[in-house]
Amino acid sequence: MPTQIHIAHDATQLIEDLAEILVRDAREAIQKRGVWIFALSGGSTPKALYNLLASPQWIGRIDWNNSVLLFGDDRAVGPDDENSNYKMASEAFGEFIASRIVRIEGEDSDPDEAAKRYEVRIREAGDRVDSNLLGLGPDGHTASLFPHSPQLNETERRVVATPVSTLKPFVRRITMTYPEINNSRKIYFLITGKDKADRVQEIVNGPCDVQNLPATGIEPTDGDLIWFLDVGAATQLSR
Ligand code: 6PG
Repeated sequence: MPTQIHIAHDATQLIEDLAEILVRDAREAIQKRGVWIFALSGGSTPKALYNLLASPQWIGRIDWNNSVLLFGDDRAVGPDDENSNYKMASEAFGEFIASRIVRIEGEDSDPDEAAKRYEVRIREAGDRVDSNLLGLGPDGHTASLFPHSPQLNETERRVVATPVSTLKPFVRRITMTYPEINNSRKIYFLITGKDKADRVQEIVNGPCDVQNLPATGIEPTDGDLIWFLDVGAATQLSR
């Protein structure tokens, strides 16, 4: 499957374009299987998307009562911690949509146990994530799959805990692994800003180099991968 790339003039248009795709995904998943399973990414980029989906113009376009929101990863911190992806997303979505989130229990003093419990929870939602939203870090990480980390080699577990990360915040993480992410029906990278353009070029057009560029390991086994980029993030891509 050739790499699918969607480029929008600016971040505002980009998240509107992705939101339309998510509305389609939700409608199809609920029609076919009765539920839409949407895995959220953390960091800062997706906040505007979550705000948009919760806005009066958009909130009614998805059947949230038949949707389950998961996390591709979160930091091993409590839900009220400023570094919590759950805190970011629940504030951006608002109370109604946030009630559909199955959060990672990052407050557990044993992140490995929290990861094992989360692996059970995601399977209770369904056998595959329908729409998996990913970001891209400056070091080429995605979710909490960081360069040269043992989690890159995981072939069985679907959710694992990581050591203290090498990027801020310097905390342990809990993350979906390649087997789980690549089992998704749709995977979307949402990336904005010229500062990521070099990495995007390396990952989209370069060889698979999982240890140095973990995002190159994102290859859906039976699904679609689409890169949603604004013009800045796409600067280095040859036409
Ligand atoms: C996290 C995210 C991580 C994020 C990238 C991009 O927990 O930090 O899941 O993978 O998506 O680091 O983050 P920004 O959107 O803030 O650039």
